[in-house]
Amino acid sequence: MTLIAPSILAADFARLGEEAQAMQAAGADWLHVDVMDGHFVPNLTVGPDVVKALRPLVSIPIDCHLMISPADPYLEAFRAAGADIISVHPEAGPHLARTLSRIRELGAKAGVVLNPATSPSVVEETLDLVDLVLVMSVNPGFGGQSFIPSAISKIARVRAIIDQSPRQIDLQVDGGVNAETAARCVAAGATALVAGNAAFKGGASAYAANIAALRGT
Ligand code: DX5
Ligand code: ZN
Repeated sequence: MTLIAPSILAADFARLGEEAQAMQAAGADWLHVDVMDGHFVPNLTVGPDVVKALRPLVSIPIDCHLMISPADPYLEAFRAAGADIISVHPEAGPHLARTLSRIRELGAKAGVVLNPATSPSVVEETLDLVDLVLVMSVNPGFGGQSFIPSAISKIARVRAIIDQSPRQIDLQVDGGVNAETAARCVAAGATALVAGNAAFKGGASAYAANIAALRGT
C-alpha cells in the first residue's frame, strides 16, 4: 500500500499537536516536516524544537525534509529531536555521501531529494547510502503549487535505478500531489507520497477520506 506522509506545512500551526494526532488517527503513515531556512529556499518554517514537541504526540515516523544549507550542522539536532527519516538536497552541501552516511550513523533513515532540475544520476552515485529517494514535483519552498508533469518520467527513471539495489528503498514524491497526480506517481513507481493541501483540506473530519483518496482506496 502506498505510504502517505501529510506535510504539516498545510496544518493549522496554532494547533499543530492536535493536527498531527488527527492525521495519525486518520491513517497517515509518516508525518512530513518541511524545514526551510529562507536561504536554500525562499521561505522560513520550523526547526528541531518543533519536531521535539511533536515527537511524544505521535508514534508514526517523523520524516524531515531539510531545505537548508548547510544541513550537516543540524543533523544531530533533528535526530535527537526524534526524526526517523532525514532527507537532504545534494545542493545543500559539498559532500552528499558524507552527509548521508552521517544521517545513518545517527540512526535515522537517509533520503536524497531531487529538485526538478537535478539529475537522477545523483541517485546512481549514492544508491548504497540511501533509504529513500524524494522526487520533487514542484520547486521547493512553498505548499500549494501545481504538480510539474515532467516529474512522472523522472519517477520512472528513478524507479529503474532503485530496482538495481537489493535493498528496500522508498521512492517518495512531493509537491502538488492530489488524488489525480497521486495515481500517476504510483503508476510510475512511487511508494510514498507527501501531501500538504490535499491531505489537510476540509479539516480533521475529512482527513481519513483525503488519505484514502490519495492512496486510491
Ligand atoms: C514544498 C514542500 C512540500 C509541500 C507540499 O517545498 O517540500 O512538502 O508542503 O505541499 P502541497 O502538497 O500542498 O504541494
Ligand atoms: Zn517536503
